[in-house]
Amino acid sequence: MSKTLVISGHPNLAESYTNTLIIDTLETQMEDVSIRRLDTLYPDYKIDVEAEQAALIEADVIVLQFPFYWYSAPALLKKWLDDVMTFNFAYGPEGNKLKGKDLFLSFTIGGPKESYDPLSYNHFTIEQLMFPLQQTAYLAGMNYRPPVYTHGMVYIPNVYNKLEDVQARAKQHASRLMDEVRKVTHSDEELVRKFVTNWFQQLDTLPTQESMFTQSLSSDVVFNMPEGQFVGHAGFKDWYAIARSTFKPNCSQGIEQLEIKPIGSQYQVSLHVRLKADTFPDSSMKGESIELVVNETWLVSLDDTNNVKIHEYEVVALS
Ligand SMILES: Cc1cc2nc3c(=O)[nH]c(=O)nc-3n(C[C@H](O)[C@H](O)[C@H](O)COP(=O)(O)O)c2cc1C
Repeated sequence: MSKTLVISGHPNLAESYTNTLIIDTLETQMEDVSIRRLDTLYPDYKIDVEAEQAALIEADVIVLQFPFYWYSAPALLKKWLDDVMTFNFAYGPEGNKLKGKDLFLSFTIGGPKESYDPLSYNHFTIEQLMFPLQQTAYLAGMNYRPPVYTHGMVYIPNVYNKLEDVQARAKQHASRLMDEVRKVTHSDEELVRKFVTNWFQQLDTLPTQESMFTQSLSSDVVFNMPEGQFVGHAGFKDWYAIARSTFKPNCSQGIEQLEIKPIGSQYQVSLHVRLKADTFPDSSMKGESIELVVNETWLVSLDDTNNVKIHEYEVVALS
C-alpha cells in the first residue's frame, strides 16, 4: 500500500479559507495519508530535520500543499526545503533517500488564469514559475508529477471573490489532487515500477532468505543470466546461491533507465542498471570491486490482488 505524505506550507492555517479546506478534505477522504502542518509544528520556523526526514523516508508519494506567495512557495515551506533537503539525504553521493518517490506540487493561486501569460501582467506561465521546484525534484531523483493548482483562490470580503465560490473551488481542487495521486498509486505501470525499485533495494542487501524473491516468481520462470539459464524456483535458488557467494551484501544496483511496455496482458520491463559491488576473494571475481552496466529485460504480470509475478528475466552485461 502506497503512503502519501502531505506537507502543508501555509504559514497560518487558522486564517486560511482554501488550504485548510483542502487539507481537511484530504485528511478525511484519502487512504493512507499523513499530514504535517508546518505552521502548527513549527510556529518559530525551527524545523525538526530528523522528524521531517523520517516522515519523508516512510512515504511513497509526497504532496507539497501551499498558497502561492510572490510567485513561489511561502517562506515557511522554503525554510523546510532548505533545512530538510540536505547533503547525503536529497543529493550527494549517498543522497538517494527520496529517489523514486513521487512529488506533487498542490497550490492555490490568487490571480486569474489569463494573467499568467507572456502577454499579461504576470508574464510567465505557472509551469515556468515552478521550474526551481521541478528541478529540486529532479536533483533528488524524484518523479515530478504534473502540478495541481487552482486560480481565483484569494478571498477578501467585499473585494475579491465570494466565500462560497473559493470554498467550492477548494473542494474541487482536493478531489482533483486525490484523483491524480490515485492514478500514480493504483495504475498497473506504477505498481510494476514500485515493484522493480523495491526488488533491487532488497537484492542489494543479498539477504540469507530468498523467499522474499521467490514469492514474486511464477513457478516456470526463466532466468537468462550471464552465468547461464536457470528455470523455476529451484533454478532461481541456484542462481541466488552463486550471487551470494560472489557479491558481498550491500552492493548497489542503480536503475538508470526504466521503461514499462504493455504486451497483451503482461508488461515488458526494460532496464539499464549500473551494478557496483565488492566480491569475495574465493569467488570467480577474486575479491575485485566491480562496476558493471547491464541491460535487463523482464516479462511480468499482475495477479488479481495486484501482486507482480515475474515470468522471464534476462540480464545482458554491456561492460
Ligand atoms: C504574502 C502573499 C503573497 C501572495 N502572492 C501571490 C502571487 O504572487 N500571485 C498570486 O496569484 N496570488 C498571490 N497571493 C494570493 C494567495 O495565493 C491566496 O491568497 C492564497 O492562495 C489563498 O489561500 P488560503 O485561503 O489558504 O490562505 C498572495 C497572498 C499573500 C498573503
